[in-house]
Amino acid sequence: MDAVEMIQNRRSIRKYRNEKVDRQTMQEIIDIARWAPSWANFQIARYTLVDDEAVIAKLATDGVKGFVYNVKTLENAKGVAVLSFVKGKSGKLDLEKDEYATSKANVWEVFDAGIACQTFCLAAHTKGVGTCIFGVIDEQSISEIVGLPEEETVAALIVYGYPDEQPPATKRKDTADIMRFV
Ligand SMILES: Cc1cc2nc3c(=O)[nH]c(=O)nc-3n(C[C@H](O)[C@H](O)[C@H](O)COP(=O)(O)O)c2cc1C
Repeated sequence: MDAVEMIQNRRSIRKYRNEKVDRQTMQEIIDIARWAPSWANFQIARYTLVDDEAVIAKLATDGVKGFVYNVKTLENAKGVAVLSFVKGKSGKLDLEKDEYATSKANVWEVFDAGIACQTFCLAAHTKGVGTCIFGVIDEQSISEIVGLPEEETVAALIVYGYPDEQPPATKRKDTADIMRFV
């Protein structure tokens, strides 16, 4: 799969085959995802991979604020990656100090998580594993369900599994509408 094809053909997958992705494959996906760039190469992203059906069911009832669309997706999911990040690092030039280097302050940590998120989804896509990013989530509840370390916070859920659907390409704005030269 070339890079253009990989970027253009990835779709959010919300229906999965009744088959777990084995842990070796997930490890290979993280092995690729860890090459995502990050602020000062701090590599703050962490992946907690949930493949236990009872825990996935708990995420469906308590982790997505009852958002029916996400509950339904989780009901047929075979795996969920809790994407978290270590707080208080990205955005700083000196980790000993409390001050951030730019007006975006600690927003860079979410930015890092976003890059990590897409890198994970593309890596999964190359292995035939479909993904769907969830932003409608209850961070506190998810932290408790998976027992996240105190120093981390949840960025997003990424549901994953072997696709049982082939969604058509989603619409994109025209190139001319999103770019400008100066
Ligand atoms: C930050 C973010 C949050 C998202 N949250 C959700 C979500 O809570 N539930 C869901 O089903 N899809 C969610 N999505 C998936 C988007 O709806 C999807 O990426 C978009 O419609 C484009 O479709 P595509 O991924 O198939 O190209 C989210 C995507 C992103 C990047």
